[in-house]
Amino acid sequence: MKMGEPTPVAPNFKPTYVFDSEPPEKERLRLNTQHNSSVENFGHLLPPAIPDHESLKAVADIATGTGIWLTQLAESLPSTVKLDGFDITDRLFPDASTLPENVSFSILNVLEPVPEHLYEKYDLVHIRGLCLVLKTGEWDGVVKNIAKLIKPGGYLVWEDTNPGSSQAIPPTKVANQAAAVLGYMCKLRGGDPLCCHSLPAHFKNNGFTMIPPPTERDPKHLPSAGVEFYLHISGKDFKPSTVDIWSRNYVTAVCGIVSFMAQNNIPNEWFTPETVGKFVEELLQETGEGGSRMFFDLISLIGKKGELPPGQ
Ligand SMILES: C[S@@+](CC[C@H](N)C(=O)[O-])C[C@H]1O[C@@H](n2cnc3c(N)ncnc32)[C@H](O)[C@@H]1O
Repeated sequence: MKMGEPTPVAPNFKPTYVFDSEPPEKERLRLNTQHNSSVENFGHLLPPAIPDHESLKAVADIATGTGIWLTQLAESLPSTVKLDGFDITDRLFPDASTLPENVSFSILNVLEPVPEHLYEKYDLVHIRGLCLVLKTGEWDGVVKNIAKLIKPGGYLVWEDTNPGSSQAIPPTKVANQAAAVLGYMCKLRGGDPLCCHSLPAHFKNNGFTMIPPPTERDPKHLPSAGVEFYLHISGKDFKPSTVDIWSRNYVTAVCGIVSFMAQNNIPNEWFTPETVGKFVEELLQETGEGGSRMFFDLISLIGKKGELPPGQ
């Protein structure tokens, strides 16, 4: 590929979410494993910055996937709290017959205006993992849509990653290349590998005040000066108990992405459909017992709707 040429896209490449092609059982396991490690690293399901969890009346989880965040929350809140999960597809929703009466799952596309019957229905909306879904120009509209769901004074909690933060520790040849795949695919789809950095601006454009990081937190988990995240956990600072399981899960996911790329003839500098088998084999070797570990950063942001910063 010459400098300045547009990134080539195979004629049969559909710009959909890359994990849509994975079998539901495999994707369910990936998301639930990632969820458990994320919660362990963040140290909470619902951030302590949200006051008085017991007084919440209605909570929504957008792009809910398997619904694990919401179903776990149901176990810690009174059964009077309405808990609604939404996703563009129901393929990973839990079996409705297993759910408590206060938990429900429905279809909702965050890229389209939200239905009026949901306006200002929720005290808190949680959304997680849209970094490989949204294109650069779509984030602001999504925050605007979601803001409509939240009561004045309510909260938006967004947990995500910058795909460009993906890394192998210690760095090794193929694990490094595999780590770069996440940012590459994000960009190829029209996304921003550093998307989380623009989120505070989208929150503020749409009427939210940013909640500052918790003061009692391990300084390693706090955002750097001037960045308005609530928490920012880099791979090197993951809790030791989560490192192996996280990395194994992520390596499996990367193997899925590179297979997807090979099957769809997506051009890249690391492998071809002919050499992808060797690439995966070397990746598994480098990341095996005692080897390199793969991570992406964990980032959370919290906004409160409709409150101006002090002094304005
Ligand atoms: C990385 S998964 C995250 C799932 C879940 N939030 C979690 O963290 O376990 C991304 C989710 O976004 C959903 N999604 C993709 N496009 C969407 C859209 N336009 N509106 C709503 N959900 C969407 C996918 O179906 C998928 O379940």
